[in-house]
Amino acid sequence: MKVWFIGAGPGDPELMTRKAWRVLSQADVVLHDALMDTAGMQEAAPNAQWLEVGKRSGRPSVEQAFICRSLVTLAKRGLTVVRLKGGDPSIFGRLAEELQACRTENIDVEIIPGVTAACAAAADLQTSLTLRGESRSVVFVTPRLGKHEANIHNEWLNAAMAAQTVVLYMASSQAKEICNSLIEAGKPKQTPICIVENASRLGVRFKDTLFEVAQNGLPKLDGPVTLLVGQALALAQISPMPLTETSPACTAGLAQKHAFA
Ligand SMILES: C[S@@+](CC[C@H](N)C(=O)[O-])C[C@H]1O[C@@H](n2cnc3c(N)ncnc32)[C@H](O)[C@@H]1O
Repeated sequence: MKVWFIGAGPGDPELMTRKAWRVLSQADVVLHDALMDTAGMQEAAPNAQWLEVGKRSGRPSVEQAFICRSLVTLAKRGLTVVRLKGGDPSIFGRLAEELQACRTENIDVEIIPGVTAACAAAADLQTSLTLRGESRSVVFVTPRLGKHEANIHNEWLNAAMAAQTVVLYMASSQAKEICNSLIEAGKPKQTPICIVENASRLGVRFKDTLFEVAQNGLPKLDGPVTLLVGQALALAQISPMPLTETSPACTAGLAQKHAFA
């Protein structure tokens, strides 16, 4: 009995590893996150049963306990079970709970890493997250708290202030407050910030300053969004790209101003 945890990467199926593709092709059942191009990935396992167990902020979501139970039940039936997770399974992916559920039932697990959103966003921006002489530390951080977590000591802010490049996951709805907090805590107002929606696929990308976003916030974007902050982002390239159907908001003011800057 075994469950494979596979990193699907940021969305573009071509960013999956060969190993991920090979193992996926042997799956009987695939439990996958919401934020991915499953049509492209289903090519690897057209005959497997594909079940979406994704969570999207503010929308009805599958309970974590149900996901854990399903992994165990399906593996015990002798099926080859793949748990396909967006990006890398070990980054903000509730991986620990799912591993624990399997281990408690003596089910073997194996993890195949994937390209996390931070790296895919940097690639889209044609830039580096570290920069010799400028940025020797990168933090992946989220200000999002779980249901029963208390916001003790502003942990996300301390982590963000300790690093030169800050990549924020699950943060776009609070972008204005985040930028204000970073400025108040001591990041220079003119620090570059890049916004990347739908990394590796069509989406909005723009570059601004902490001060501008602290003043104006962000337009509403439908796809997953990563915020990247730090002097290394000064070198980010924003290439013109078509507006996506999934991001009608990008036709409005702020994004329009920056998407083609
Ligand atoms: C629950 S976390 C999962 C992260 C994932 N495990 C990873 O390694 O990228 C979901 C958040 O990741 C970021 N994200 C995931 N895919 C993305 C993409 N294609 N483009 C931009 N951000 C993305 C967004 O901040 C989103 O809210």
